[in-house]
Amino acid sequence: MHLSSHACLNYLTFFLTIALTISTSISIDICSPNSTITRDVLIIGGGSSGVYASFQLRDAGKSILILEATSRLGGHTETYRDPITNLTADLGVMLLHDLPHVKSYFSRFNVSLVPRTAFSPHARIIYADFRTGEVVKDFKPPNPKEAFERYEAVLQKYPYLLKGYYLPDPVPDELLMPFGEFVEKYQLQDAIFTITRSNHGMGNMINQPALYVMKLFSQLILKGLRTGFLSTKNNNIGELYEKATEDLKGDVLFDSRVVKMDRVEQNGYAEVLVHTPEGTRLVRAKKILFTAPPTRENFRGWDLDKTESKLLYQFRAKGYYTTLIRNTGIPDDTGIFNVGSDTFANFPVMPAIYRVTTSGIPGLMDVKFGSETPMDEADVKRQILKSLQRLKKTGLKTSLGEGGVLEGFKSHAPFEMTVGIESIADGFYRKLYGLQGRRNTYYTGAAWHVHDSGRLWSFTEGVVQRMLKQ
Ligand SMILES: Cc1cc2nc3c(=O)[nH]c(=O)nc-3n(C[C@H](O)[C@H](O)[C@H](O)COP(=O)(O)OP(=O)(O)OC[C@H]3O[C@@H](n4cnc5c(N)ncnc54)[C@H](O)[C@@H]3O)c2cc1C
Ligand SMILES: *[C@@H]1O[C@H](CO)[C@@H](O)[C@H](O)[C@H]1NC(C)=O
Ligand SMILES: *[C@@H]1O[C@H](CO)[C@@H](O)[C@H](O)[C@H]1NC(C)=O
Ligand SMILES: *[C@@H]1O[C@H](CO)[C@@H](O)[C@H](O)[C@H]1NC(C)=O
Repeated sequence: MHLSSHACLNYLTFFLTIALTISTSISIDICSPNSTITRDVLIIGGGSSGVYASFQLRDAGKSILILEATSRLGGHTETYRDPITNLTADLGVMLLHDLPHVKSYFSRFNVSLVPRTAFSPHARIIYADFRTGEVVKDFKPPNPKEAFERYEAVLQKYPYLLKGYYLPDPVPDELLMPFGEFVEKYQLQDAIFTITRSNHGMGNMINQPALYVMKLFSQLILKGLRTGFLSTKNNNIGELYEKATEDLKGDVLFDSRVVKMDRVEQNGYAEVLVHTPEGTRLVRAKKILFTAPPTRENFRGWDLDKTESKLLYQFRAKGYYTTLIRNTGIPDDTGIFNVGSDTFANFPVMPAIYRVTTSGIPGLMDVKFGSETPMDEADVKRQILKSLQRLKKTGLKTSLGEGGVLEGFKSHAPFEMTVGIESIADGFYRKLYGLQGRRNTYYTGAAWHVHDSGRLWSFTEGVVQRMLKQ
């Protein structure tokens, strides 16, 4: 059906309001047939959860449109292709759980999965305090076996942590303890090195409520450490998203953002004005699925009411950055780990490089950097180079001069969105989940559950099932 002149008039009014509220001129004819896109569901964010949801919804016969802020799908999945060797390396998501829904998702795109152990082997490992660049003498990673047994016994008391934030009221005290206190309570010091190695991007993990560390470092991770994970043969998880991009052709707006939104309370269409490289489009959708990180910036242009903004504006983010570095002089078979020489359980002091390890591509080392809050990217790059230069003090002949070049640098900030202890105790997550379906808007993504792809896809399936029922 063509837009009625009445509807067109509405859009014009809508458009004029925006032209008046923001001083940028949006030069489109909002009444031209091509500028309006109508779908059952508008998915905001084409990363891990958004892409997974799009196939779930399509399989159920729903029409979808993904609105993605960048020029590619995949979010934290980042596969680097080396122009010299043509080899690939996963710099973001690397390991997946051996679970039926993970395997069927990959097989749908004919991307095969192979067994993979958690930590790549290095012939030589150096433990240094990256603040000084000096080797931490006498440091040896403790054997975590017994600490893990105690830890797993605690996790088993809270099976609901595997599924989402379905917390009881009151929230058990030990979930709200700073993780450092929790570690002392259960004598888990020997597990910290391994937990840190797996839980990157949590900022100063020792001060985080134990809940967040327990969500991420789950029974499934413990199982994976014992029996292995899955990955792709050529370290190319990005292939899944290349295939998905082809499949979703016509249903994705890249480099696009919400400009203004007008949602409805009941049945009907939400109207969302979006900015795309080809101009402004009006998207009409029965439902909206938000999957981007819940930052203030990402709700700009939304018609949030008080109930929504009170909850959604509470999140705070950590910083997490990844890069490769070429010709460091560091041998490919050498790994360098950051351990605090004088800190609680040798936890590295942030902001800092977590570790420098082989990328699997000769001549390219993989560097992971974390910070308590998101940082300026130029500052992160400077700190990475300076930090690597200091490692000369370990005795390594790193050839890294001032002109060191980072390749494939990527900011994963805002990462690990969390809220304060008081807020969690006050039922934050019950209220947050109470927003599901309200004003025909649904939410998924790591902030609603956990930074773990396989588990997040299960959670997303639950949200999609609910969307289909309502
Ligand atoms: C370095 C690194 C390594 C990791 N390794 C693993 C691993 O080995 N195994 C594992 O299971 N998990 C891993 N994770 C965690 C995993 O990536 C996350 O759990 C998962 O990507 C979260 O999915 P998401 O959909 O919430 O976010 P994302 O995948 O980040 O998707 C969000 C999308 O929203 C887009 N977006 C943001 N703002 C807007 C906006 N305003 N409008 C439109 N779009 C927007 C983003 O560009 C992005 O594409 C890793 C994460 C990182 C950073
Ligand atoms: C609408 O889109 C079609 C196909 O993309 C194109 O051929 C046509 O010229 C467009 N019309 C207008 C008015 O932009
Ligand atoms: C690199 O590898 C890919 C996939 O293996 C292949 O399709 C491509 O042609 C190769 N490119 C070059 C330049 O060899
Ligand atoms: C996967 O492979 C099968 C059989 O070779 C083929 O029919 C199907 O189209 C392929 N699917 C994708 C997404 O490549």
